[in-house]
Amino acid sequence: MGKFNNEALVKEIKGRLSIINLVESYTSVKKTGKGYVGLCPFHDDSNPSMHVDEEKGLFHCFSCGAGGDIFGFYMRYNNLSFPEAFSELAKKADVNIERQPESVPRKSQNSVLYKINAVASKYYRKILIDSSKGKLGRDYIQMRNISAETSQEFSLGFAPEGWDSLVKFLTKNKVPLSIAEKVGLIVKRNNTDGYYDRFRNRLIFPIQNIEGKVIGFGGRKIKEEDQPKYINSPESDIYKKRKSFYGIDKSKDHIRREGRAVLVEGYTDFLSLYSFGIKNTVATLGTSLTREHVSILRRYTENVVVIFDSDESGKKAAMRSLDVLLEEGLLPHVAPLPPGKDPDSYITEMGKEKFDELIENSTSWVEFFIDISIDQYRKGKLTLNTMVKDIIELLEKVKDPVETSLRIKRTAEMLGIQENEIYSLIKRGRGRSKTGAAKPQRTYPSHEKLLLTLVLKFPDLGEQLTHENWEDLISTAEIKSILQEIIVQGTSDPSSLLLRFDDKVAHEMISEALLSSPDIFNGQSASKIIQGCLVKLKLSKLDEKLKFLRIEIDEAIKGKDAQLEKKLLIEYRDLTKQKQREEGKAS
Ligand code: CTP
Ligand code: MN
Repeated sequence: MGKFNNEALVKEIKGRLSIINLVESYTSVKKTGKGYVGLCPFHDDSNPSMHVDEEKGLFHCFSCGAGGDIFGFYMRYNNLSFPEAFSELAKKADVNIERQPESVPRKSQNSVLYKINAVASKYYRKILIDSSKGKLGRDYIQMRNISAETSQEFSLGFAPEGWDSLVKFLTKNKVPLSIAEKVGLIVKRNNTDGYYDRFRNRLIFPIQNIEGKVIGFGGRKIKEEDQPKYINSPESDIYKKRKSFYGIDKSKDHIRREGRAVLVEGYTDFLSLYSFGIKNTVATLGTSLTREHVSILRRYTENVVVIFDSDESGKKAAMRSLDVLLEEGLLPHVAPLPPGKDPDSYITEMGKEKFDELIENSTSWVEFFIDISIDQYRKGKLTLNTMVKDIIELLEKVKDPVETSLRIKRTAEMLGIQENEIYSLIKRGRGRSKTGAAKPQRTYPSHEKLLLTLVLKFPDLGEQLTHENWEDLISTAEIKSILQEIIVQGTSDPSSLLLRFDDKVAHEMISEALLSSPDIFNGQSASKIIQGCLVKLKLSKLDEKLKFLRIEIDEAIKGKDAQLEKKLLIEYRDLTKQKQREEGKAS
């Protein structure tokens, strides 16, 4: 779904076309109590499950999950790209799309945002290198073995303690605070006038786009007891996490030259590898890899090595990225780290040569996955059925037919079965998902969904989230980016919100949230429910962490690593205490 920056034309087209009329030309719809329903044309529908709302300009099928606005409907029905649907619907609406107004003011608006980030970055840098307030930061950098050279090259900085150091600095220099708020450097106070600094007492990592302009910041805590470990800039007009990589402005030429990219998860992993001379690296920024990320990487190389944390949560995160790479037609490699290590700690302890070896010995993910699955089956940890199902699910994501047939051949050999048997299982799997009843919808955590629904219905309440570290609580990437859009960009009608998203899933979530529950909430009860959701989300996040920790502790015990076990147990105890505190709030 291509993104289109000419919001005005899109709005004009939407204003002139009725979604009911459009839908009616493809399937019949009936008026019911509060809207229209009809048979969904996107799956084999026997009971009308598609809802259409003229006023909101949205449709949503509550059976197969298809949803969006007129553009979404038209694209999906006719299998068109956004620009194609745009020009056809413009004709229907009699809107002339040849004129090209607007783009200029937006650009110059953005240049102000880049500028203010540059000013802030310089401010943080200065404090880190030559202010008494920066000593904590300097000590921390030394403790983390970050060289002066790396610190300089990546313009690391330090945000001093206190609530308004940056606010004061900006005020003194006559920088408009409302703009600083737009990029998330400062946050509006809740009850009184004024703003406070988002980053306090943190090491600052400026995030730069491909051209080297600062688009956002990450801030790592210095004091052990501070929470959370990282605070990041929210999304803004110039910062989109789903298409930004940390460090890519410095590493892109190395990636091209070496014909390979090493993918890691965070600021410190990136910096550590980079300063050891592994410069063909990129890091995602607190999200897993997206399709937009892949299309950027592709400009430089098709060979990607994903560094694979062997703990459960690391594995899960890596697998999501690997899926995206496969689905985008790449054949990624994986390089697994020993348990308990991240790229930074591994290279620091073992040195560059060992890390080079790790990358050289990386294996194709598909091969790695199949080998592991078969191994687990042989050890009795997986049934034959589950194993074959897992392998088939993976192979279905592989876009290269040569690779698929090679893997099927090898799998059959390893299992001592006929290739044909695997092929017929694949066919059966495909058949299920393409025809017949609606494909089971992806399910999303219910509290995240409820939060989204409430904030979509009462956008002003989104502000409540900014007082919490909410971005860490939402695990569904699409929900997170929709909320970010609402919170960062302020109130907006659903149609212009839809315009800001490329992916179908976001459209479906917005249409579902807006067309689902009737308007039972008033603002006040909504606000209470939002608070309740946040507590629930915190608790489930803690539960998830505790679950992974238990697995890691088990592994440490099995591996007879007493030191690691002790460390994990302390972490476990702290988290349990934290959970008790939250439970106190909930009751
Ligand atoms: N992250 C985040 N917010 C958090 C935790 C993590 O945005 N509360 C992101 C950061 O980009 C971070 C990455 O996820 O760099 C990986 O997180 P983690 O492995 O926990 O941290 P490290 O990068 O290993 O950082 P450090 O070595 O400083 O502990
Ligand atoms: Mn680390």
